[in-house]
Amino acid sequence: MEEEEIYEHEVIVVGGGLSGLRAALAAGKKGADVAVLSKVHPLRSHSVAAQGGINASLGNVLEAENDSWEDHAFDTVKGSDYLADQNAVEVMCKEAPDVVLELEHMGTVFSRLEDGKIAQRPFGGAGVPRTCYAADRTGHNLLNTLFEQTVAESLDFYNEYFVTSLVTRNQEIQGLIAWDIENGKLVGFSSDVVVLATGGYGRIYNRSTNALINTGDGALLAYEAGVPLEDMEFIQFHPTTLYGSNILITEGARGEGGHLKNKEGERFMKDYAPEAMELAPRDIVARAIITEAEEGRAFEDEYIHLDLRHLGKEKIDERLPGIRQIARDFAGVDPVEEPIPVQPGQHYSMGGIDVDIDGKTEIDGLYAVGECACVSVHGANRLGGNSLLETVVFGRRAGKEIGETLKKKEKDKEEIKKALEIDKEEINRLLHEEGDVLYSELMDELREVMFEHFGVYREEESMKKGLSKIKELKEKYDSVHIDNQNENFNTALIRTLELKSMVNIAEVVAMGSIERKESRGSHFRRDYTERRDEEYLYHTKVEKTEGGPKLRYEDVTLGQFKVKEREY
Ligand code: FUM
Repeated sequence: MEEEEIYEHEVIVVGGGLSGLRAALAAGKKGADVAVLSKVHPLRSHSVAAQGGINASLGNVLEAENDSWEDHAFDTVKGSDYLADQNAVEVMCKEAPDVVLELEHMGTVFSRLEDGKIAQRPFGGAGVPRTCYAADRTGHNLLNTLFEQTVAESLDFYNEYFVTSLVTRNQEIQGLIAWDIENGKLVGFSSDVVVLATGGYGRIYNRSTNALINTGDGALLAYEAGVPLEDMEFIQFHPTTLYGSNILITEGARGEGGHLKNKEGERFMKDYAPEAMELAPRDIVARAIITEAEEGRAFEDEYIHLDLRHLGKEKIDERLPGIRQIARDFAGVDPVEEPIPVQPGQHYSMGGIDVDIDGKTEIDGLYAVGECACVSVHGANRLGGNSLLETVVFGRRAGKEIGETLKKKEKDKEEIKKALEIDKEEINRLLHEEGDVLYSELMDELREVMFEHFGVYREEESMKKGLSKIKELKEKYDSVHIDNQNENFNTALIRTLELKSMVNIAEVVAMGSIERKESRGSHFRRDYTERRDEEYLYHTKVEKTEGGPKLRYEDVTLGQFKVKEREY
């Protein structure tokens, strides 16, 4: 391999979504030489799909005038079913007003109140209207703002590069290897710091609101490099995804006053969360909908109605224009005239790469931020509006820390060359060896297994069956076969590389779910219906070993909020 095929940067951020761009910008502003390397163009990152908003205790709305970061932190910890680390939650909620105002000053077009302040709406699990929004296109607005800022900062971009491995030596990052998708070749990158900002692993499930790119690639890279994965069994199912396509129908629709109704026309949430009703946390609302379906009160046993008609056309057009458009285009339903058919769907990955509050992993120079990381601010169940917040708070923290502590390392390009050779062999194998398993069939099967065995409700026997199916699929991956041998822009090759992340991450999710013999937040077991703090008020950490994934449990950082039963 030619020397010139190894690029050099002080900092490489992998992922061009909100957390990656925020980290890149902060490090760039400190004078670091930063490159952003992304599987897709940054503006196609999944952050663009975020709808409902970003939480901050600004107290702009009258009912929230006494809001505080402490109240935000309490709601977050309670929402997490007490598994979130309270030190990290404190940091996030304290910094929230500042990051939101900073984004406003950068140019984000937030919706406004009559008095010109940033508008805030109620979201699930929050005591008061705390979610700042840009109609129902908040992620789109934020991502465009941050992308403009990174372009203005003249950062380097490597768009459409897929990272095949991280290169480390003696627990220190050296760089990474990536497949240049357009030109069909492997490239080495030498760097002092790598930041993983690759998003979640939601696409290991079918019925997901996630972009197809959310396949857990960053989590697998870190895991293979020796960093533990944390709390991977906690998967969020959003209560309202469009029936048929599972496109997100924002919680903002319920925040604006939308009602959930079963086929008998009842607002059934009165039986599950009599006070919070439709604005209970997502785990509770998702379970309620599945229970309604199991007890015969859903339409076609599959979906319920989200009724917005009483909000009126004017409010729907002003606050929820994207939802109206999605419902019309993808379900043929105009919410002004008819209720929207919705069902729960996979939405978010609470677990991820084990990091501290500055995004540092156990490997020197390797950081992770955003949904691929677990800091842990969401614990067993994330509150809506806290994921956008996490991306910018912890992205900014990591970027600043990197910029302030960056030191030139002695780097040995031989390690990168060796890694390039290994990855080259693997890509050649995938492209040219005969195999009898089609990647797309294996991927579909995996997604079905995950939804069937590790869904909203879980139990031992079914999960064990699921795990053995995952292991079979993992073995089959070795005989996977790609029909297209082209090197340039071979999307089948990219899907096949993603599939490797997916089967490995699915195994970790499955093992964590089986071993956690309790119900907490999004992890609800029919065979252990209670939360069991004595045995399981712990984080799950999974490490890669020769013999397969190895689990251990570690303390949760508790703080000012005492562990209590959750009631809404
Ligand atoms: O429902 C939503 O708009 C999603 C928000 C979130 O996941 O934070």
